Amino acid sequence: RRVVVLISGNGSNLQALIDTAQSKEGLNGEIVAVISDKADAFGLERARQVSIPALTLSAKDFPSREAYDLQLARLVEEQQPDLIVLAGFMRILSPAFVIKFHGKLLNIHPSLLPKYKGLHTHRRVLEAGDEEHGLSIHFVTEELDGGPIILQAKIPVTSDDDEATLANKVQAQEHTLYPIAVRWFLQGRLQLMGNYPTLDGTPL
Ligand code: GRF
Repeated sequence: RRVVVLISGNGSNLQALIDTAQSKEGLNGEIVAVISDKADAFGLERARQVSIPALTLSAKDFPSREAYDLQLARLVEEQQPDLIVLAGFMRILSPAFVIKFHGKLLNIHPSLLPKYKGLHTHRRVLEAGDEEHGLSIHFVTEELDGGPIILQAKIPVTSDDDEATLANKVQAQEHTLYPIAVRWFLQGRLQLMGNYPTLDGTPL
């Protein structure tokens, strides 16, 4: 099974997927390409280190989101992926892109969705005085950060937490959980049926 990973930055989640793919348990699939919208994304370096094709598609060269996403869709399709994993890809995808890959697009978001869609989730959690925070892995639909949720992990917020400590705690959980969800999908256990994610045929 073939996986394409889309990134924009550090790529620590990509690294977790690479490490899992190389581990004994494996991913039940292969990362066949990493695509970034930023040429200087460190995640591209992580891919090159393990000889995964690392491509950049810069939005600067396109007049509109639709034009960019059309070219991105072409690049992705060339890889004939079974799954497309968004791992810190910081662009909103247009409906045409999302519909084209319906049921094959996963995202990870650093909040307990439906709370805190969008950016600066750690800061917003602190400002709200929440006692817990977390992350969500979900299928991507046309609604930003609004697709059906597959997995979530909660972390407690303590009085000495700041944005950096929260980010670290959330990321540690991300690196454990994203490979699990990706493996479920590649094993054919995780599916989007209508608008409901199912694991082994049971709604999540
Ligand atoms: C993650 O925290 C993820 O939740 C968010 O972007 C961050 C990406 O981090 N969507 P990395 O590039 O995988 O290190």
